[in-house]
Amino acid sequence: MEFDVEKLRPMDTYKLMAALIVPRPIAWTVTQSIDGTLNAAPFSFFNVMSGTPPVVVLGLGSHSGREHDSTRNIRETAEFVINLVAETQIEAMSFTSGTFDPDVDELQLAGIPLIASSKVKPPRIAGSPASFECERMITLEVGPQSVVILGRVVAIHVRDELMQDASKFYVDAQKLHLVARMGSGGWYGRTRDTFELPA
Ligand SMILES: Cc1cc2nc3c(=O)[nH]c(=O)nc-3n(C[C@H](O)[C@H](O)[C@H](O)COP(=O)(O)O)c2cc1C
Repeated sequence: MEFDVEKLRPMDTYKLMAALIVPRPIAWTVTQSIDGTLNAAPFSFFNVMSGTPPVVVLGLGSHSGREHDSTRNIRETAEFVINLVAETQIEAMSFTSGTFDPDVDELQLAGIPLIASSKVKPPRIAGSPASFECERMITLEVGPQSVVILGRVVAIHVRDELMQDASKFYVDAQKLHLVARMGSGGWYGRTRDTFELPA
């Protein structure tokens, strides 16, 4: 079946893209407004785009015609922290995707423990398997209500027990137990079903 994007409603194009480009990792993103209010929200339009330099990408849309608080905070402060989501964090992560006024700190509301970051102002989420401190490199306005943000990773945190051999920078993928977004709505996948193809 072929779909001509020019003839589709934007929501239908989104539905096809989101349902087909899976699984997507989830960037549970912590930002801080210029007046110091913290914000957290999950974004699955997320991935690594370059190893050297280390660059990640976020795709941020809008909600009811209003830009996300995360978008505004990143525009105004140029800093954010991406936290990966463990299976044990799925409900807290989902809670932070709710619509809150810009002056509401959903991390505090949900009682999510935080740890100070090393190089950027927004803190990281204590229970996350790994966190990436990022500085904004480029913002592309790809549509009237859609931005793509490239972030340079300036610090990486991994929980000690997830490192297989820290001297070689090997992560134990079997222990990560991350969740990924499948489609949209409430569908998720797990990263437990891995296998090795002998070289
Ligand atoms: C698992 C998950 C993934 C999401 N991914 C995205 C995304 O990639 N881009 C986006 O604009 N919104 C995404 N959303 C919706 C935002 O998280 C939601 O609109 C949130 O309220 C934005 O928060 P903010 O205004 O505090 O930044 C996602 C929601 C969930 C639950």
